[in-house]
Amino acid sequence: MKAAIYNRYGAANVVKLVDVPTPEVKPTDILVRLNASAVTAADSMIRQGMPRFGRLFLGLRGPKVTAMGTQFAGEVIKVGVDATKYAVGDRVFGETGLNFGAHAEFVSIAEDGLIAPIPDGLSYEDAAALCDGPLTDMNFLVNLAQLQPGQHILINGASGSLGTAAVQLAKGFGAEVTGVCSTRNVAFVKSLGADHVIDYSKDDFTEHTAAYDVIYDTVGKSSFAAAKPALTSNGIYISPVLGLGLLGQMLFGNMFRSKKAKFSATGMLPITQQRPLLSDLLARIAKGDLKMIIDRRFSLDRVAEAHAYVDTGHKRGNVILEMGQA
Ligand SMILES: NC(=O)c1ccc[n+]([C@@H]2O[C@H](COP(=O)([O-])OP(=O)(O)OC[C@H]3O[C@@H](n4cnc5c(N)ncnc54)[C@H](OP(=O)(O)O)[C@@H]3O)[C@@H](O)[C@H]2O)c1
Repeated sequence: MKAAIYNRYGAANVVKLVDVPTPEVKPTDILVRLNASAVTAADSMIRQGMPRFGRLFLGLRGPKVTAMGTQFAGEVIKVGVDATKYAVGDRVFGETGLNFGAHAEFVSIAEDGLIAPIPDGLSYEDAAALCDGPLTDMNFLVNLAQLQPGQHILINGASGSLGTAAVQLAKGFGAEVTGVCSTRNVAFVKSLGADHVIDYSKDDFTEHTAAYDVIYDTVGKSSFAAAKPALTSNGIYISPVLGLGLLGQMLFGNMFRSKKAKFSATGMLPITQQRPLLSDLLARIAKGDLKMIIDRRFSLDRVAEAHAYVDTGHKRGNVILEMGQA
């Protein structure tokens, strides 16, 4: 089968499409023929080996696992001899986690992994990105912020993968939502349901004193220290981008302040904690709270181009690899 690999950390040109054996199907695995995979900001950072402390897990001198991609959607074409949960022909989506391998034509994954049937009415490309932005947002909005109806949340990076989903989901939670984006995305973020939109090239949200119960910096472009004055007295700053500053605030600062800073690595949570979030997410999608935003689509043989586009840091929503067109 065709699969994307990288043998060293670097720019998008380290991504190569190669022929590899179709994965072996272990007794409790299912083999999925992929229709779509999302190329995410996290894929881009992993490929670059950034931040550098991540190399402790990924490989110090180069990637230990050369397969790429974690997000997938496709059709079950084979089930392991002891697998009971899925049948050939089922439409499924999920995440491969640290096994990677989703930028490929086939994935073999344990049926107890982070997988679920694709709800009727949802396309493969929409489902392929659900475990990235939307699932991460559920973790941050539910577990970290405990977002309540009527609270005011500011979402920085409102036009990205996490941001476009967070704006919509936060509205579904009954929150008042302010989205922060550039001039070109103001009308777009408004169309997602944001009550207010701040153009970051014209206005600095950190100067809005005591305005927000929750600040969700999806792109990690601010800091807790800078954003603190903009939080209400018991306000919470959450960000999925871990830097030393945020780590320090979490480890030492939170004990001494009413305003808190929080981070979580969603993909590292036990499956038992991710599943309820995924179920809640799917229920919200069924209610119409979330529509996936697809920016660009690339065929699998253009996977390096897809990575280069994600590297710009200016994608709008999600970037999708379409399989079967290599
Ligand atoms: N901890 C976790 O569990 C977890 C899980 C998934 C992802 N992540 C991380 O979350 C981060 C965000 O991922 P993502 O996929 O949402 O990113 P993304 O889609 O690549 O973000 C791109 C968006 O950010 C906007 N942006 C760029 N500069 C900005 C600025 N200064 N202020 C506000 N917005 C700005 C861009 O809008 P303009 O073009 O208009 O500037 C663009 O729409 C990544 O670092 C990823 O690794 C963490």
